[in-house]
Amino acid sequence: MSRKPIHLAAHFPGVNNTTVWTDPTAGSQIEFDSFVHLARTAERGLFDFFFLAEGLRLREHRGRIYDLDVVGRPDTFTVLAALAAVTERIGLTGTINTTFNEPFEVARQFATLDHLSDGRAGWNIVTSSDAFTGANFRRGGFLDHADRYARAEEFLAVARKFWDSWAPGAVPADVGNGVYVDPDRIRRVEYSGTHFEVRGFATLPAGPQGHPVLLQAGDSAAGRAFAARRADAVFTLHTSLHDGQRYYADMKGRARSYGRDPNQLKVFPAVTVVLADTDAQAQEKARHIRRQQVSGATAIAMLEQVWGRDLSGYDPDGPLPDVEPIADSAITQGRVRHADPVALARRYRDKAAAENLSIRELVIAVTSRQQFVGSPAHVADEIDRYVQADACDGFILVPHLTPHGLDEFVDRVVPLLQERGAFRTEYAGATLRAHLGLGPGARV
Ligand SMILES: Cc1cc2nc3c(=O)[nH]c(=O)nc-3n(C[C@H](O)[C@H](O)[C@H](O)COP(=O)(O)O)c2cc1C
Repeated sequence: MSRKPIHLAAHFPGVNNTTVWTDPTAGSQIEFDSFVHLARTAERGLFDFFFLAEGLRLREHRGRIYDLDVVGRPDTFTVLAALAAVTERIGLTGTINTTFNEPFEVARQFATLDHLSDGRAGWNIVTSSDAFTGANFRRGGFLDHADRYARAEEFLAVARKFWDSWAPGAVPADVGNGVYVDPDRIRRVEYSGTHFEVRGFATLPAGPQGHPVLLQAGDSAAGRAFAARRADAVFTLHTSLHDGQRYYADMKGRARSYGRDPNQLKVFPAVTVVLADTDAQAQEKARHIRRQQVSGATAIAMLEQVWGRDLSGYDPDGPLPDVEPIADSAITQGRVRHADPVALARRYRDKAAAENLSIRELVIAVTSRQQFVGSPAHVADEIDRYVQADACDGFILVPHLTPHGLDEFVDRVVPLLQERGAFRTEYAGATLRAHLGLGPGARV
């Protein structure tokens, strides 16, 4: 049986506590050099795409801007367009929200990016709909949580109409002769729905890919259904082998149920890698990184997000709070709060009691996302094993350092994956769709 090809993507380190900002090699989150280094390193490693997450409002905790957000988050399209000029083959994928934007603008921006990059644009569709983020955008009101995928469906339908509205060759070679354009060459976009009333024309033809590669990140039943119908790939946090296999089977089955080829929906969990010469050294390094990621103050802040109340009087090296969480507290804004904080707090207390953990140790244990820790050979084995066992089609690597977080992986793990014949030794195609083995995109 032939091996499944492994796909890899590079997540630019986020505004979160996975990224270790106190490391002496840590660079800026804003300066172009950081983006260039990570994107070029990923391209040197023949990754499928570079990936930007999105945050449209600085998070606040206890009514104040929260420490890590001050590292900043520049605009997605501007960064990706600039990267198009300094990279040649790697896909350029950005997270863009369907709640706070307009389909015309987003369709136009992605078509432009696809042209500027010669067919390397990818859109990670998210539907975040909280009023806190919305306050940066709207003059009142925001989207009801239940409507976020209904709006996303309409948003994408309108965007696709814009991309499909210019016939191939709509711009004739002899343009400039002062004749009216044939309405079959550039069709009027007309859409009437609950969320959008649109009547107009796209200002440019679709890019080389026709439609950008569409990713989706969101795990509710509605989110999964949306992705199974519309997306080319999903970004997921189902990272353990068995959980991943269940999720993979579910998503591929859903795609099949909509009449799609399941191979045309790729599954990408996030993964964090810690490398060292030996497995034992890597474990030690991982413990050190975890303590840098979760300081005592961060541990208290993270616990306050669950408890929904001020826990500043508690010692991070002491036992868990004996008070109960407040269910509907707004202590933290801009983060998704756990649906049942009382049950979660109970689980945390049980775990801390069973394993004799302090607050900081408990937070380190429950927020750990270091999945593959070991020598390059061990990490290559694990990545290949997950892909071949149908837990995923590849990974979005989330480095813990900006901008050097992928250097070692590209130098030491990629060659081992190539030796196994499971990872490309050169880019075969020019577009992101070609890298991912995708056709023109879902049309259901
Ligand atoms: C893996 C993953 C990554 C996400 N990344 C982002 C992001 O970068 N920006 C954002 O606004 N929302 C992000 N989201 C959040 C969701 O798209 C959004 O909150 C959505 O409403 C949640 O959808 P759901 O209810 O289907 O899970 C992400 C979600 C997941 C699962």
